[in-house]
Amino acid sequence: MHTQVGIIGAGPAGLLLAQLLHLNGIQSVVLETRSREYVEKRVRAGVLEYGTVELLKAHGLGERLEREGLRHDGIWLRFGGNSRRIDFGALTGGQSITVYGQQEVVKDLIQARIKSGQPLIFEAEVKGIAGLESERPSIRYLHNDLETSLTCDFVAGCDGFHGLARAAIPEGMLQTFDYSYPFAWLGILAEAAPSSKELIYANHQRGFALHSIRSPTITRNYIQVPRDEPLEEWSDDRIWQELQQRLETHDGFQLRTGKILEKGITGMRGFVVEPLQYKRLFLAGDSAHIVPPTGAKGMNLAINDVRVLSQAFGAFYARRDRAQLEAYSSVCLKRIWRAQHFSYFMTTMLHRQNQNDAFEHKLQLAQLELVTSSRSAAQTLAENYVGMMPRDVLEVD
Ligand code: APR
Ligand code: PHB
Repeated sequence: MHTQVGIIGAGPAGLLLAQLLHLNGIQSVVLETRSREYVEKRVRAGVLEYGTVELLKAHGLGERLEREGLRHDGIWLRFGGNSRRIDFGALTGGQSITVYGQQEVVKDLIQARIKSGQPLIFEAEVKGIAGLESERPSIRYLHNDLETSLTCDFVAGCDGFHGLARAAIPEGMLQTFDYSYPFAWLGILAEAAPSSKELIYANHQRGFALHSIRSPTITRNYIQVPRDEPLEEWSDDRIWQELQQRLETHDGFQLRTGKILEKGITGMRGFVVEPLQYKRLFLAGDSAHIVPPTGAKGMNLAINDVRVLSQAFGAFYARRDRAQLEAYSSVCLKRIWRAQHFSYFMTTMLHRQNQNDAFEHKLQLAQLELVTSSRSAAQTLAENYVGMMPRDVLEVD
């Protein structure tokens, strides 16, 4: 079997790349090790930047998103028992974010792929990539106990952080930047109506908490826990109690509770490899970079990578123009590092690093005062959150 672009991974990056290529008349094959059911049920982040929503709508993926996605025009920062709003609309000239679970994006993308009639193979585990230095790299994968080889013009490594594409790049060709935050998030999905119309990010003496929303009946909440915290130590009651304490306000905020549908612990790290390309292999999404979730950037970065990559493939197949493919890595890295910095900024402003460090806590409160009282500081936060980029970040060098 031969295709133009062999795509490893059916997360947001791989599936959207497949759709953008299809709309541009470029063939691809998507190989995914998991089942369709598994990827459609995997609960992850849920915030779409303004530009992400526009992109999805412009490529035939807006129907359910427009119906079920929740548009939010601001977020709340809660500290010292008070809530202060960051008003995206007023600070960004009318931009907003949309809350729509990543697995919903994935479901819509799978539907679009199936409708296109183009190949998407589940339970196809990629075992190796060969011939990257040649004109015809090949991807070896296992499907139905049968080992098969797919040759292609290019390989897109959209196989997430634990995938194998990044590891297929020879030693010494990549530079790795890794930062491990000393805490994790315990996240729950709950059958409970939202307790606020907009997301609440709370800095509390006991640690960070986030109240997020999925639908009028489902909420997602997170609390900061130590890095190697065992999940067994957290009964449902203890989680609700801790959330209530960390989200408390002077005027008696009450968190609505309900049945916990899912819970898990995720570590927090910042990770980037450079460049995002080796010969005919292009990395996109989590396979090349991870951000801590505090800035809500993970899925948006993955989507931006494949937007840039699909345009570059478009230029290559239309005119054999390789300039955009060559610029892919440097173009994406600017946004990746902007998001990496914003995520670091939000994370360090909101989490307790050292439980006993009163000085550090006072600094955080001063920072929170600044971003909620100075218009220019609030505007910077709002612009970053909705995904507005300084012109420099959008331009090719
Ligand atoms: N063969 C085939 N598929 C693979 C292989 C392999 N060897 N290894 C991994 N995969 C698949 C995974 O099963 C997964 O479905 O690649 C897919 C990668 O998808 P994601 O992890 O969702 O990564 P990406 O598409 O880059 O999306 C990034 O996910 O973790 C969040 O915060 C992150 O929102 C961001 C998004
Ligand atoms: C979520 O809803 O899962 C969510 C929202 C905001 C974040 C992270 C996760 O910063």
